[in-house]
Amino acid sequence: MTPLERAAMILEIPVTFRTANRIDVDKLEWYGQFTHFRNLLRRAYREQLRGRRLMLVADFNGFPIGQVFIQYDSMNELIADGWSRGYFYSFRVMEMFQGKGIGTRLLYEAESVLVERGYQFATLSVALDNPRAFQLYQRNGYEVIGQDPGRWHYVDDLGVTRYVEEPCWILEKALSID
Ligand SMILES: CC(C)(COP(=O)(O)OP(=O)(O)OC[C@H]1O[C@@H](n2cnc3c(N)ncnc32)[C@H](O)[C@@H]1OP(=O)(O)O)[C@@H](O)C(=O)NCCC(=O)NCCS
Repeated sequence: MTPLERAAMILEIPVTFRTANRIDVDKLEWYGQFTHFRNLLRRAYREQLRGRRLMLVADFNGFPIGQVFIQYDSMNELIADGWSRGYFYSFRVMEMFQGKGIGTRLLYEAESVLVERGYQFATLSVALDNPRAFQLYQRNGYEVIGQDPGRWHYVDDLGVTRYVEEPCWILEKALSID
């Protein structure tokens, strides 16, 4: 043991998967890491209240350490059409909790939400330069159905319009209903 490594303890931590509430919306800025997405988080929550989206979070000790949002319908019917295809986005797990199965479970829970609503397909997009996430999706049965230039914009917390260009794969999974 080095002088800096004085002791160790094993933590077993309970993580629950649930719909986000109003208090989570602020916490999902993750202490400044995603403050620039404040308007997007608030809009997703408003859409959840209208029944058009769902914000699913992984909760540890009252804090949302992971998230995936579900969009039930979209102008782009290839990804979501309001009755048979739903789109997952904003999928992330706090860095110190990554690689422990939380992301895989979030994906599974999001798929269950769609199955309960009678949807047949889940879709999502992943940046061309994110091979590890791509692998995770492939491992879980997602297949490429197209590519997208990934151009979009949003207004950040300071009111500045930010433009994003992130070419991505569009993936799809046929959900088993049994
Ligand atoms: C992708 C992500 C949500 C997966 O959550 P997770 O809890 O780490 O996932 P799991 O523990 O269930 O599975 C781990 C697998 O996820 C994938 N993965 C992708 N990015 C990863 C990362 N930064 N750290 C660990 N695993 C990552 C790998 O395939 C990994 O499997 P491997 O260890 O065999 O390489 C999470 O890693 C993350 O938030 N990454 C940064 C944001 C991101 O890329 N989101 C996806 C956008 S499409």
